[in-house]
Amino acid sequence: MRKVNIIMNGVTGRMGYRQHLVRSILAIREQGGLPLPGGEVLYPEPVLVGRNAAKLEALCAQHNLSQYTTDLDAALADEANEIYFDSQVTTARVAALTKAIGAGKHIYTEKPVAESLDDALGLAKLAEAKGVRHGVVADKLYLPGLRKLKRLVDSGFFGRILTVRIDFGYWVFEGDWQPAQRPSWNYRSEDGGGMILDMFPHWRYVLDHVIAPVRSVYAQSVTHIPARWDEQGAEYAATADDAAYAVLELEGGIVAQINSSWATRVDRTELVTFHVDGTHGSAVAGLRGCRIQHRNATPKPVWNPDLPTSHDFRGLWTEVPDNDVYDNGFKVQWEEYLTAVATGAPYAHDLFAGARGVQLAELGTQSAREGRKLEVPAL
Ligand SMILES: NC(=O)c1ccc[n+]([C@@H]2O[C@H](COP(=O)([O-])OP(=O)(O)OC[C@H]3O[C@@H](n4cnc5c(N)ncnc54)[C@H](O)[C@@H]3O)[C@@H](O)[C@H]2O)c1
Repeated sequence: MRKVNIIMNGVTGRMGYRQHLVRSILAIREQGGLPLPGGEVLYPEPVLVGRNAAKLEALCAQHNLSQYTTDLDAALADEANEIYFDSQVTTARVAALTKAIGAGKHIYTEKPVAESLDDALGLAKLAEAKGVRHGVVADKLYLPGLRKLKRLVDSGFFGRILTVRIDFGYWVFEGDWQPAQRPSWNYRSEDGGGMILDMFPHWRYVLDHVIAPVRSVYAQSVTHIPARWDEQGAEYAATADDAAYAVLELEGGIVAQINSSWATRVDRTELVTFHVDGTHGSAVAGLRGCRIQHRNATPKPVWNPDLPTSHDFRGLWTEVPDNDVYDNGFKVQWEEYLTAVATGAPYAHDLFAGARGVQLAELGTQSAREGRKLEVPAL
């Protein structure tokens, strides 16, 4: 058994606690560690870091952990700690990652890795120069729905892919008459909030990996709800975009339309759906499910508003079977990353991939500001 100490910064937050600590690192411990290719077992030891000692102490007590500190520098100076993980608010990330890379730690981090492409690329180059292993969360790729979609693409199901339509969003409460279900910093641009910065990094790796590389972007962003109420019940100005409507061109002439909104009410089967149309078939993937319609099962509707619709369009789709066991996506990616650290193997979802995500967010924001389509140059 080989123990590996992981500094985990931001575990009192939504993502850090639920997905990374509980569902990933603690779950790997509960299964007895991570078996490595040579037969050795890696056992993660979290070292919780944060600003509030009482909260960290309570987390340790609740989960039977022993190591926590409010002193990041001391945790980074400790040679026993090999990996630094960051799920802090976005604005705190670049400074912490820069320090951690400087201290020679391997890096694993939430997205977006930075608020600007310059900062994101700077981190990637610094990590390369230091020779540390680096990874960025790309959780959507590990969702059962997207894995099924990728399987369809790889099998040639679609023929020539024509378009992709991503529909993401749900109503996020304003916070006055019902508490908001997302942190208030998400709605203030000065605090790293905003739909484009939050979601375009996800859309970048999803499109690049599952469909085709992104070549251009046109986006329109909006702040639909200009005032919200924070965790203390105080009204604040929502300075960040809470919705973005984008059209992207992908390699091969594929068109992607992406609606991302925290000001829409859901009339879908899932909170995000990916609708792909190809010459030979179409698919609609969600977080877990994926439905398909082959060209041979495609109905021939005729436009006639005088008559009620004669087709049950939804009923003509077929559910793709699981054919696999899907573990929590964050955990699966942690296992891949930890294996790469332990074996020295290359890791695909690295800080350069993270920078490509930030690049799309930056160009999307610029496109919205200038009202024009922008090329997405290779980095
Ligand atoms: N992969 C995903 O699907 C996904 C989903 C949501 C959020 N995220 C990312 O994860 C990160 C954390 O998001 P979250 O929703 O967990 O946020 P959160 O507000 O719930 O948690 C933020 C964490 O950062 C800490 N923090 C450090 N410095 C802070 C500061 N100056 N002000 C406030 N908090 C500070 C907090 O204590 C807390 O532990 C963000 O970068 C976000 O973009 C990723």
